[in-house]
Amino acid sequence: MIDLHAHILPGIDDGSPDLDTSLKMAEIAASEGIKKMVATPHFIPKEKEQEREKVLEKVRELNCVLKEKGIDLEVYPGEEVFLSPEIPELLDEGKIITLFDGGKYLLVELPMMSIPPYALNIIHSIHLRGVTVILAHPERNREIAADVKRLRDFIRLGVLVQVNSLSLLGVFGSTCKKVAEKIVREGMAHIIATDCHTARSRSPRMKKALSMLDGRTGHILTVENPALIMEGKKIEVPKEGYKARPIGLVRKLAMFFRV
Ligand SMILES: [Fe+2]
Repeated sequence: MIDLHAHILPGIDDGSPDLDTSLKMAEIAASEGIKKMVATPHFIPKEKEQEREKVLEKVRELNCVLKEKGIDLEVYPGEEVFLSPEIPELLDEGKIITLFDGGKYLLVELPMMSIPPYALNIIHSIHLRGVTVILAHPERNREIAADVKRLRDFIRLGVLVQVNSLSLLGVFGSTCKKVAEKIVREGMAHIIATDCHTARSRSPRMKKALSMLDGRTGHILTVENPALIMEGKKIEVPKEGYKARPIGLVRKLAMFFRV
């Protein structure tokens, strides 16, 4: 699997505080079957702007230690950028790191409480620059949680939707879990990533969340689509999206007895 959203770099944002924690997170990720991970520290325009070189250096350093320790995980550069009107200009200036530093896909997060009125216009401007927006964990946005159909406006613009595995596992509460399940069930999710921050409650866990989906959809959302993104290729999303079938208890039992 390829995890496109992770706060694994030590001491750079609210994710891993130190190298020890980063290594523990990497070990968990590897044991979950994650082979590649994009480090996506928070980038908040005007408030917390990461220095490009510093992020790239930290990725290089972490990869060296992972190799030394024999941990089977490769880390790539990226950022999680807070949606704001400055993004197109920052992209033009080369100040923001896209996923894999490939210039094709940008991970963008909405504020928790609302959808800013300029959201769709800014996303359109980003797309005009040949960069596709991946919307990070929309299930955590309060307006979308109240009405998931609002996501359709983003998807119509060509936005890809990333749901957190930890949301599906209920780490952010039952409402967030239900919203995440609904997004996945209705075919509006294109990627599942961990958004891991720690080696504890917000560790890079994927397997259990995937066991809640049918295998084919899980594979597309965690392996195939992330691989296309890594290669900078376009993802042809089917018209109806990826209609995942979350596996409920009844179905799990049925599957169990069928064996
Ligand atoms: Fe994040």
